[in-house]
Amino acid sequence: MLNNDRPLPLLILLSYLFLSSFLQTAAAQATPLHHVSAKQCASCHQTIYQQWQGSMHANSTALKDPIHGAFYKAVVGDPTQEGLTKQDKYPVCLQCHAPAAAKDGKTDLSALAIYGEGVNCVACHTISAYKGTQKASGGLQLGTQAYEYSSTSLQGPGNSKITADGKHPIYSNTANPAIFKSNAVCMGCHDQRKNANKVTLCQTGSEISASETEGNCLDCHMKKVNGKADHRFLGGHSSEMVSQGLAMSMTHSESSNTLKVSIKLSNKLPHKLPTGAPFRNIYVKLTGYDKQGEIVWASSQSHPVKDDKKAMFMYSLGDAKGNPAPPPKATQVLGDTRLKPYETRELNYAMAKATIVKLKAVAYYDLLLPAMKKKFPQAEHKDLVQPKVIAVSEIELN
Ligand code: HEC
Ligand code: HEC
Ligand code: HEC
Ligand code: HEC
Ligand code: HEC
Repeated sequence: MLNNDRPLPLLILLSYLFLSSFLQTAAAQATPLHHVSAKQCASCHQTIYQQWQGSMHANSTALKDPIHGAFYKAVVGDPTQEGLTKQDKYPVCLQCHAPAAAKDGKTDLSALAIYGEGVNCVACHTISAYKGTQKASGGLQLGTQAYEYSSTSLQGPGNSKITADGKHPIYSNTANPAIFKSNAVCMGCHDQRKNANKVTLCQTGSEISASETEGNCLDCHMKKVNGKADHRFLGGHSSEMVSQGLAMSMTHSESSNTLKVSIKLSNKLPHKLPTGAPFRNIYVKLTGYDKQGEIVWASSQSHPVKDDKKAMFMYSLGDAKGNPAPPPKATQVLGDTRLKPYETRELNYAMAKATIVKLKAVAYYDLLLPAMKKKFPQAEHKDLVQPKVIAVSEIELN
């Protein structure tokens, strides 16, 4: 009896395993690789899946990201309409923000669930080569057009032994460290982008290559957590990340009742601070407090963008007359006061000592410029419109 107990469940288990792997393999073969959902990877790569799901890569389409969505609707149109064109061309946005739809040449992002997954697992893990963003004939090739893809084999860094015979349990796989250990895997989408008037908007990649020391994106954006590459892809949306870019310190001197204060700001990164979307910005406010803790002096009464421009680190876009213009409409760059890679800058202030006993400098990071925030009601989009405190420096005076 005891002996007979075992084989039956084992047989069921074996046939179940055989059948399910047969079915999964069959499903994998029936679906083109670029249509394989991140959900198909989740059962085995649970942690990575959860990290990715919270990332801006998983939320990169106009259906999910409210900021991108607002611009996409204004510049291109309804993200659920098929056959949308932008100046008679397929909308370039989708090449980076919705790669699976771009590969199919579709514009209705609700047509297939996979389109809404944005930059999903297979959008990266099928990249077999990087062609660069510069076309031989001039002009740019961006996002999916900057890469070559494998339609049969998952690409990866070659970190894991995978199985004893080196094969991925479900998919055919290729170790491709030349791409998956280098900036190339990011550059097709993060190198640079211009608007229709050829004004540069985002340029993280160009910032890096122009800096003296090369920086590997993966060292900071895909650090190993418990031995596995972090797939949260933290950036401007994360307080944890943005505070890592800036070092701030403050010194002062005092003579004949005048306080001279110097705030030193250093960019610790191989790209600009802030980098990325043209409306990202950083600003610094200095305040003096009296014994009672009341503010008796402030570097800015409203916002530095209005009354203390030297403390504003931003990219300014404008129209032909030199008035501020939103990214899609800009015809020229009016200025760029963001910190260059590894740059240190000093802000100097002078004030009457009077009753000041404490000085406090605070640096803030903002996803959006003040004028843009009106489009994103505070109640609904608190996380997008709240400035993040990224550095604080204090001096007690006697
Ligand atoms: C934006 C591109 C990108 C996306 C999206 C992405 N990956 Fe990765 N993944 C990479 C890169 C680059 C590496 C190599 C990191 C390294 O070795 O430093 C990697 C590594 C891995 C590894 C090996 C981990 C290790 O450290 O050994 C696995 C497994 C993996 N990815 C699975 C996934 C799954 C599953 C998803 C979707 C839920 C996904 N990836 C989404 C770019 C991406
Ligand atoms: C049946 C389980 C299973 C499924 C489903 C699965 N994987 Fe894996 N995968 C593994 C195992 C096991 C490894 C080896 C150990 C590790 O790295 O986690 C691996 C390794 C990897 C690696 C690392 C390869 C390298 O070069 O180091 C990548 C990338 C990867 N998988 C991507 C994916 C993607 C993308 C999907 C979904 C399309 C997926 N996997 C679905 C089990 C699975
Ligand atoms: C297929 C295009 C594509 C590839 C490849 C890609 N990204 Fe992205 N990435 C995007 C898009 C699109 C966004 C913006 C999503 C949004 O905000 O709507 C983004 C956003 C980000 C952000 C910003 C997150 C934030 O909080 O705003 C970081 C950081 C990032 N990517 C890092 C990387 C790194 C590192 C790599 C290479 C391993 C990479 N990306 C590869 C398209 C891509
Ligand atoms: C030394 C660490 C480091 C390296 C190397 C690095 N980054 Fe960053 N990155 C950061 C930090 C910290 C931030 C947040 C501050 C900021 O936005 O500049 C950031 C922000 C970003 C953002 C967010 C922009 C946004 O609009 O929200 C993107 C995209 C990005 N990096 C891409 C890259 C790419 C692509 C590379 C490689 C070419 C790279 N980074 C190399 C640390 C690094
Ligand atoms: C070359 C790839 C690429 C193309 C093409 C592209 N984007 Fe992006 N976009 C990105 C990346 C990468 C980010 C996030 C990181 C950064 O800020 O650089 C981003 C971020 C954004 C953001 C900010 C999102 C946020 O969460 O704050 C908006 C808005 C945006 N893109 C709109 C568009 C529109 C509209 C188009 C088409 C007219 C477009 N993008 C085309 C790569 C691209």
